[in-house]
Amino acid sequence: MLRSLLGVLAQLSVASVLRVSPGMVGFRSAFSAVRTSSLVGGSQMAVTFDRLLVNVGNDFNPDTGHFRCHIPGSYYFAYTVGKFPKKMLSVMLVKNRNEVQALVYNDHRNKGRKVQSQSVMINLKAMDTVWLLLHGSPKYALYSNPGVYVTFSGYLVYPRGEEPVSAFSAARTSSVLGEKKGLEKKDALTFDVEYVNVGGHFNKSSGRFTCHFPGVYYFAFTMGKHPNRALSVKLMMGAGEVQTMIYDEDHSRWRETQSQSLLLSLEKGDTVWLYSQQHERFAVYSNQGRYTTFTGFLVYPYPAQKNLVTTRF
Ligand SMILES: *[C@@H]1O[C@H](CO)[C@@H](O)[C@H](O)[C@H]1NC(C)=O
Repeated sequence: MLRSLLGVLAQLSVASVLRVSPGMVGFRSAFSAVRTSSLVGGSQMAVTFDRLLVNVGNDFNPDTGHFRCHIPGSYYFAYTVGKFPKKMLSVMLVKNRNEVQALVYNDHRNKGRKVQSQSVMINLKAMDTVWLLLHGSPKYALYSNPGVYVTFSGYLVYPRGEEPVSAFSAARTSSVLGEKKGLEKKDALTFDVEYVNVGGHFNKSSGRFTCHFPGVYYFAFTMGKHPNRALSVKLMMGAGEVQTMIYDEDHSRWRETQSQSLLLSLEKGDTVWLYSQQHERFAVYSNQGRYTTFTGFLVYPYPAQKNLVTTRF
């Protein structure tokens, strides 16, 4: 502990002398944990883990399933869980005692197994905790086996104060129903909850992210399937160039979530947004559980921006 503290202090002084990004020399926090057995909803609320693959900074405790923040900043969390045959699936990403951040959901009690994912970026203060909550009723369960269906990862993307930064993460708490086609103009999917908007480059009322720092960006989105409607959501650039999509043509009455992610190379002024098919057969489902999320962040700025990679220390 003392040694790691001294290490951080040494790195801090090196960072302030060289004026380089603290993310490159220190301020690291990253974990990845897996679970190789199933779990049925009950009194055990937190999903725990039996194998830890990465635990840089020692901020994750697999026995409690809790990540505890030591370095304030913006963190990206991603998880995938298996659906147990004939059970429903509801696993929330929770901050501290009970602040729901996002949800993986499936209420179709069929016998097939499948995996579903979710991811968001959130700002944490020192001592904040983040963990996964399985619905407490025995009607709900998550499935895993030694093939490893269940994974939970998180890492510090931007320590507070690092530049240049650009990151957003947003959720919707209501559904969007497609209407009759014939609409020429494609409207972006908009959002009402903003977890993170570092740099202010995402406008949740227009649903558009605008690139300010040229570079490589990571985008991830999870969408809820609406009962009796199909799901078709595309990741768009500019006026409507399709990059990737989520699709589910099942018109059943069940709700579930699906995810997609991609790296994109962006120039200053490029816009990125989501488009849900505007037709009465299609919809996106969400509610206060936050099924529907959209996240994006700068991974590597291009070298022309190098002179901006300095710290505020
Ligand atoms: C965000 O988008 C809304 C809707 O398009 C627009 O009215 C508003 O001016 C935008 N805000 C900013 C800061 O650009």
